[in-house]
Amino acid sequence: MALSSSAVASAIFEGSVASFLKALHAEFLPDRDGNVATYIPELSNADPDHFGIAIATADGRVHAVGDWDVPFTIQSASKAFMYGEALKRLGRDAVLAKVGVEPTGDAFNSIVLDEITNRPFNPMVNAGAIVVSSLVEGADRTAREKAMLAALGAFAGRDLAIDRAVFESESATGHRNRAIAYLMLNSGMIDASPDDALDIYFKQCSVLVTCRDLAVMGATLANDGVNPLSGERVLPTGCVQDVLSVMYGCGMYDYAGQWSFDVGLPAKSGVAGGLVAVVPGEFAIAFYSPPLDRFGNTVRGVKACKRISEMLSLHSFCSRTEVGSVIRRELCGLTVRSNRVRKREDRTLLDAAAAPVRIVELQGALHFATVERVGFHLGALAASTSRVILDLRHVTSCDMASAGFLVGLQRIWSDAGRMLVWSFVPPIGGLIDLSAALVAAKAHIFADIDHALEYFEDLALVEGPAQPEVSIDSMRRFDLCRGFDEQDWTNFVVCAAPKIVEFEAGATIVRAGDPADRFFIIIAGGVRVSSRGGQDARLFRLSSIGLGLTFGEMALFEDGRRSADVAAETRTACVVIAKDAFARLEAAHPAIVAKIYANIIREQAERLRRANVTINSLES
Ligand code: DON
Repeated sequence: MALSSSAVASAIFEGSVASFLKALHAEFLPDRDGNVATYIPELSNADPDHFGIAIATADGRVHAVGDWDVPFTIQSASKAFMYGEALKRLGRDAVLAKVGVEPTGDAFNSIVLDEITNRPFNPMVNAGAIVVSSLVEGADRTAREKAMLAALGAFAGRDLAIDRAVFESESATGHRNRAIAYLMLNSGMIDASPDDALDIYFKQCSVLVTCRDLAVMGATLANDGVNPLSGERVLPTGCVQDVLSVMYGCGMYDYAGQWSFDVGLPAKSGVAGGLVAVVPGEFAIAFYSPPLDRFGNTVRGVKACKRISEMLSLHSFCSRTEVGSVIRRELCGLTVRSNRVRKREDRTLLDAAAAPVRIVELQGALHFATVERVGFHLGALAASTSRVILDLRHVTSCDMASAGFLVGLQRIWSDAGRMLVWSFVPPIGGLIDLSAALVAAKAHIFADIDHALEYFEDLALVEGPAQPEVSIDSMRRFDLCRGFDEQDWTNFVVCAAPKIVEFEAGATIVRAGDPADRFFIIIAGGVRVSSRGGQDARLFRLSSIGLGLTFGEMALFEDGRRSADVAAETRTACVVIAKDAFARLEAAHPAIVAKIYANIIREQAERLRRANVTINSLES
């Protein structure tokens, strides 16, 4: 009893490929439409009840059901693979000079050539395939037969043989093909003997395969030309693309348009009942069932392939790639730490590290759309972090253009003074070596996330703890404001008009000799106070002053000029209070200023005490 398509659907949800294929097979096995080919007498012996389905994945697993192991002759399905073989050996231009790539809209055995170029329209119809057969090299028929068998066998991943009875049968009756071959001798598309070309053509059509073989042959195309079982590279990448393009447009003859519309996969059929369809990068599916429709395509195969394409959304124009999936996951460098064991102070420091690190793990294929998404993602991340680890461990491929875009991302981040480092750059990148190109762009590349994290941790330890929030309010917690109540604070802010000024690392804040007209409270970073001395007037450090401390406060007590240089040691922010504003505060709120003076004196007394200790120790 036929299973309904909803049974097929539920079989998918059972989660097993085997049960899915079984349900698909059961649905179409009872279909009695179509007739077994008889124009080659030997083919009429085929069993119309035979029905096999096989799936071969691009990474080498095969699932099969029904009569998947019954041998049958490959017939026209050979045309796709022999076309690939000719492209590989002779190159695209040489093959294109002899056979075009245009669909005919005519039957497979139509006697029609392009009137302008004299070429057959495409290599999937008999005329084009006979030309391709004429291109097989070898000293004699035996040598050419061997070369043809080797070519098809490489796709199947095993030695193949010719069904001599079918070959004899077709040789004896294939007069239409003979007519086509001689027509092409006349038009100059076949250089040598048309009978030699037909010999190899009839033999290639008579090669015995199983449904499983056909699936593996298709999977070799799905796997970019590498046989997923043998590991042999059978075709170069460019040839695979050419073969699949022609299969897509011409593989199903005068049914090709409807096929593209309904199924949307590159495919090739044969009159013995074989059909193979390719899902590039993923898998191939093959069918064997001898009854044919009026186009010469297997009835059950076409129907089942249409069903599977619908069920699994395989149509080439059905967007199954979610570009967002290129971001495998994102981790925060605060939650994930390197495996470096750190002492307790360092751990505490890292907990308070200023610059958060983001780890972005990529996965799958990097091509324009996915890399564009990565660029967008990093752009959004840049608002919250300037440190990113991009991990490529789970990336499976990267085309040349994408490798270029990744290098561009590195440059953009470096130019913006941000840090993008790389973890595990695999040997990918098409024609450019991605890691070499990244190194040339001054990228840091680490073996794994662990080492990249360690690098950022070391950096954070050198930089010190996180800088506190930069705001006027933040100075309230410092000693200068000790004893302030709410009202003091409000009055202080209103009268002293404190302002925040930020300085880049190394910037000069105060220069010796400048008028002393303001003083500073450090609310982020730190400064170095230096003076010139010695015979060579060398700049030496008087002190370094950090967070929460004041400098330039002598301006409050004397009219005069600065006695030393002050420069920012790291990026620094200060609250600056002008001397005249401070005078206004003193006039309006002397009690507040008294508190400030007391706090300054306490701090200065502490500094003096420390200086005395130093002087004493130097003198002793
Ligand atoms: O040229 C022929 O007649 C056959 N040996 C091959 C034709 C074929 O398989 C057409 N495909 N559906």
